[in-house]
Amino acid sequence: MLQATVLRDDIDEIMPGVVADRRDFHEHPELAFQEVRTAGIVAERLRALGVADVRNGIAETGITGLIHGTKTGPGRTVLLRADMDALPILEENDVEYRSQTPGVMHACGHDAHTAMLLGVTRLLMDRRDEFAGTVKVLFQPAEESPPGGAKPMIDAGVLTDPKVDAAFGLHIDQDNPVGVVELRPGPMMAAADRFHLVIRGKGGHGAKPHDSIDPIVIGAQIVTALQTLVARAVDPTQEAVVTVGTFKAGEAFNVIPDTAELGGTVRTFNAKNRDFLEARIETLARGIATAMGAAVEFTYTRGYPATVNDPAMTELVREEAAKVVGADGVRHAPLMMGAEDFSYFLQEVPGAFWFVGSQNPERGLVWGHHHPRFDLDEAALAIGMESMVNVALRYLGGESTVESRQLAID
Ligand code: NI
Repeated sequence: MLQATVLRDDIDEIMPGVVADRRDFHEHPELAFQEVRTAGIVAERLRALGVADVRNGIAETGITGLIHGTKTGPGRTVLLRADMDALPILEENDVEYRSQTPGVMHACGHDAHTAMLLGVTRLLMDRRDEFAGTVKVLFQPAEESPPGGAKPMIDAGVLTDPKVDAAFGLHIDQDNPVGVVELRPGPMMAAADRFHLVIRGKGGHGAKPHDSIDPIVIGAQIVTALQTLVARAVDPTQEAVVTVGTFKAGEAFNVIPDTAELGGTVRTFNAKNRDFLEARIETLARGIATAMGAAVEFTYTRGYPATVNDPAMTELVREEAAKVVGADGVRHAPLMMGAEDFSYFLQEVPGAFWFVGSQNPERGLVWGHHHPRFDLDEAALAIGMESMVNVALRYLGGESTVESRQLAID
């Protein structure tokens, strides 16, 4: 474990700089596709480190760079990804690195992701003689804002030139304490879609319902019927959610309005349920409205697909993370109903996404993602970097299959 020990020493050495970067990004958060300052720092840093072929301005503010290994070997390419965007939230933390931009905050930890991948880049640049092939580091915009930054970066060709063989990414995790890493093979995070319904009835006097077609009553029937879909029509051993989050109709207590509007979200983990719910929501809404004499406008917008980890790559991450936090520290993640646009990379190439615990109750670092008091224990940055470096070296220096235990850093 000689090299692994050296890696940890190197991480200790760069940690103050990585923490400083994270705090700098935290102080200067930028919303989706506006990560100009952040991207500028990232590109400058990559070039200063001697990273090859640094390309910026991909899908607005995205960046890629290449680290070429000098070992002889099969020469594969592995992609490591960080997201850079912040959220439209007013920070409530009273820390010296609090957001300087009112109403914008790194409340999900993407500041940490960006700082960690810069650290990982530096560590891998110093280890080019330990791997064959190429590490492509990718910093993407707009994870928080569907349709997001991952898809347009893929459309711009980031998985080619050189062709990417596998992709890995991680997320800071305030639901688990520092020292815990979580992931699972197969679907891990949900697909998140939205729907919108406009029910066109016929307005009138509240005392003369027979002259009207009441869109509120029709909408109420539709809401109730939609709640039977997951309960009665989706396989009970599978997970799905249909939530109606908005129901807007009417202005006056004694007037039947012309229209009612419903909006909602659908969460699923596989294409079958996703297709099924999209079709059935429309069928139910149209059928009920038509039967009651109204018309319906239906819009269904697909958001991020389910995040599906490749089983062999999951095992690789699991083994490499166990070297960092111990076998007990690596846990089987529960299914998560939230969505993540790293899913688009995993639709194209095998890979895995994992969670790095960052909660520290003793220091009051317990607030969840997207909360105005979100903050993290920066010790998690070392765990994130070490696991990511291990994964990249293992993938490029050893074998990617679970069967082969000849590890590059053993
Ligand atoms: Ni996030």
